Amino acid sequence: MSHRDPHSYTDLNQGRVQSMDLDLTVDFSSKTITGKADFHLAKAMGGPMDLDTRDLTIQAARDNAGNEVEFELAEADSVLGSRLRVNLPDGTEKFSIDFTTSPEASALQWLDPAQTAGGKHPYLFSQCQAIHARSVIPCQDTPLARFTFNCSMTVPEELAVVMAAAPGEKSPAGKAGMTTFNFAMPQSIPPYLFAFAVGNIASKDLGPRSTCYTEPEMMEKSAWEFAEVDKMLLAAEDIFGPYLWDRFDFLVMPPSFPYGGMENPRLTFLTPTLLAGDRSLVNVLAHELAHSWTGNLVTNASINDFWLNEGFTVWAERRILENLEGLEAKSLSAAIGRNGLLEAMNSFGKGSEFTKLEINGEGGDPDEFYSLVPYEKGFLFVALLEETVGREKFDAFVKKYIDHFAFTSLTTAEFEEFLNKELPGVADQVGAEEWIHQPDLPANAPVFASARLEMLEGLAKGWTDGIRPEVNEAQNWSPEDWQIFLQALPKCLTSEDCAWLNDNFLLNEQGNCEILCNWLEIAINSSFEPAYDRTASFLGEVGRMKYLKPLYSALHGNENTRALAADVFAKNAGGYHFIAKVGLEKIFSG
Ligand code: BES
Ligand code: ZN
Repeated sequence: MSHRDPHSYTDLNQGRVQSMDLDLTVDFSSKTITGKADFHLAKAMGGPMDLDTRDLTIQAARDNAGNEVEFELAEADSVLGSRLRVNLPDGTEKFSIDFTTSPEASALQWLDPAQTAGGKHPYLFSQCQAIHARSVIPCQDTPLARFTFNCSMTVPEELAVVMAAAPGEKSPAGKAGMTTFNFAMPQSIPPYLFAFAVGNIASKDLGPRSTCYTEPEMMEKSAWEFAEVDKMLLAAEDIFGPYLWDRFDFLVMPPSFPYGGMENPRLTFLTPTLLAGDRSLVNVLAHELAHSWTGNLVTNASINDFWLNEGFTVWAERRILENLEGLEAKSLSAAIGRNGLLEAMNSFGKGSEFTKLEINGEGGDPDEFYSLVPYEKGFLFVALLEETVGREKFDAFVKKYIDHFAFTSLTTAEFEEFLNKELPGVADQVGAEEWIHQPDLPANAPVFASARLEMLEGLAKGWTDGIRPEVNEAQNWSPEDWQIFLQALPKCLTSEDCAWLNDNFLLNEQGNCEILCNWLEIAINSSFEPAYDRTASFLGEVGRMKYLKPLYSALHGNENTRALAADVFAKNAGGYHFIAKVGLEKIFSG
């Protein structure tokens, strides 16, 4: 096993932290968390121990006996943060660090009451993937270093804490007006899965293993949208084998959550943009659930192997979809994915490193090179393996893969070795070398055809020849139908065409954010003024990068709306998550 991750200062030859006891106190007025971390080592050691930190203030480091030991915080690297080196005496089994986070901690977003659904209480949440855990706790911030933990978190008594861990007792804190919540995580996790949220958070049970958490004002919609969670859990177990994390709860986040979902173990985080009111976006829940196996049990060794997490998970997500809704639904979902893939590959350019499956991301910022390639090229590769060996054999392979690597983190090379051993000859047969190590999309990528897909794409492709969908029929199209159709339309239409679409199908008023975003992109590219207000309001309602990035790019890319882009950004940037803000600033500067 390699001991180095290019995105961490961790050196596993020095030693390995096996478990942590965390005692954290949240202060909303200073936007800081003050904490003490006890680190239990896998083996007694002495000498330097390097940890990752970002913007942390370190007050003290102590050894087994509680004596202060020397530490040294190196100058910060803009991507990696600062290496913290603690000099440990021989025979150290446990050491501890006192620290305080920065108000700018990259993993944390502190929300004012006005940014929540209830409007009365502040809110705090974490988002550690890919390399932000180090801004909350000093740690060996690489997926190679899994750990278990106990955590107590002290917060103002009117608020609740939820954590990606098993909840324990709640107890009055030593300080007036504060409460302490206790958690334990008995299954070992990579640091990027450390997660919690603090706010006015309610709960509702949805099944024997699942509870929905969210602000009380969001509960009814959330509980309805995801009511079928238990059915998904059973479908996923069918593919992968037993669910090993005891509970599958989820938290519906405030709108500024920058992702669609995050697979925090025992407590998936979900964007409220999934609340379409018709369960049409629950695939994201299926995706995060599937990560319970591919990602959380079997974990990428570093961001270079990210496709192992996401490619397998998209494959599983679509198997769950096939199981619950049939082959046509899978074919539309794969087509939407392929559109996204081609767009991502296009924007990287032919031959780009970032269109390989295994990448070399050293020196780069994972938030910056994040794309759909590991997801959708990964999906196509896994689907090709499945198609080539047949479902029965492939399912057995996947179960064995999960079993073999459960609770470990593996590299792409280790995957290739396992593939060769378990399915000899298949790698050569499908051209795995090209898929994994060469850029672009190999010619043997599987295609998921369906008559409906052909019909919808045919209609859209005929647009410039004057072909139009039958209005009565299209008014009854499913949300996936609409996405396929809009994605296949020319990127830029005439104002009359835009007006025809908007008048007949009320696209500006779309409640499904995927459709709305696809539509607004076309409308902006087409300088269709009646869509400007809706674009501006939408960009003030959501913080999910999947929508912010294309819409700001479209606004900024069109001379007629460039000033609007700057106005809308200036008005809303304060409410966006740090990662989103940084990503959007790139659009304005580039
Ligand atoms: N683990 C990812 C989110 C992530 C990746 C956060 C990298 C930070 C760095 C999560 O499982 C995910 O892929 N979410 C997708 C949804 C999915 C259906 C493709 C998203 O956020 O849109
Ligand atoms: Zn994912």
